[in-house]
Amino acid sequence: MIDSTQIETTAAYIRSRIGGFQPAIGMILGSGLGLLADEISHPIHIQYEDIPNFPVSTVAGHAGRLVFGELEGKNVMVMQGRFHYYEGYPIETLALPVRVMHLLGVKQLVVTNAAGGVNPKFSEGDLMLILDHINFGFNNPLMGSNLASFGPRFPDTSRAYSARLMEVARGVSRERNVLLQEGVYQFMTGPTYETPAEVRMARGLGADAVGMSTVPEVHAAAHCGMEVIGISYISNLAAGISGKALSHAEVVETIETIKEKLIHLMRGILRAM
Ligand code: HPA
Repeated sequence: MIDSTQIETTAAYIRSRIGGFQPAIGMILGSGLGLLADEISHPIHIQYEDIPNFPVSTVAGHAGRLVFGELEGKNVMVMQGRFHYYEGYPIETLALPVRVMHLLGVKQLVVTNAAGGVNPKFSEGDLMLILDHINFGFNNPLMGSNLASFGPRFPDTSRAYSARLMEVARGVSRERNVLLQEGVYQFMTGPTYETPAEVRMARGLGADAVGMSTVPEVHAAAHCGMEVIGISYISNLAAGISGKALSHAEVVETIETIKEKLIHLMRGILRAM
C-alpha cells in the first residue's frame, strides 16, 4: 500500500525541484498528445525515474516526465506520459500522481485519452467530451485503507466530471468550430482491444467509447474533490463496427491527423477554465 507519508515524500521532492511554482491545473495527456507539453513556456521537467515512489512508464511512445510551466496563461502540471493498469502496476499506483497533484495544490484536472468509438454515430477522428464513465476494470485505486486526509471512504462519483467545465468545453467547441461529440467512456483493462461481442455489450451498457485509461485517475480525483474535465479522441471505431482489424499503428496514425484540432480545443479550454 502507498501511504500518506510516501505520497507526501513524493510531493516534497517535487516541491524541492519547482522552486515555488504553484500549479493550478493538472493535465494527463493520452497517447500522441505529449507534444502539448512541449508547448509550455518556461518549462521545468522532472523525469519520472527521478521521483521517489513514482512508477516508470513502460509504453513505447509515451515520454515519462512531469512538465511544469505556463500554458494559455495558466500554471499547469502535466504528466507527459501516463501509467496504465495493463502495464501491470498495482491499481493504487495510478492514483499516486493525482494525489501528488492534490498535495501540490492542483484543484482542476484535465484528462485526455485515445478511445475506440462505440456509438455508431461517431466517426474516426471525432473528439468526445466525457460526460460520465463505466468502470469495467473491476478494480478501483481507492480500495484498501482509506486515506482520510485525501477524502471520504465512499466518494460520490455522480459529479466526477464537472458540469461547469463541460459547459466551458461546449463554448470553446462552438467558438473554435471544433466538433465535440459527447458521451460515456467505458474503461476496459486492455491490453487486448475488445472483441466485437464486448463492444456490443459496451454499447448495451450505455457506453459511447471504450479505452484503457482515465477512470482510475478520475476516481482518485473524485476522492480528493478535484474539478475534472475529460476529452476522448476517437482514434478508431471499436472492434466489429467497421469490420476492420485494429492495430496500434493505425491508432497512432489517426491520432497524428487529429492532434492539431485537439490541441486547438484543449488550448481554448485551458484558457477559459
Ligand atoms: N479500445 C480500447 N482502447 C482503445 C481503443 C479501442 O478501440 N482505441 C484506442 N484506445
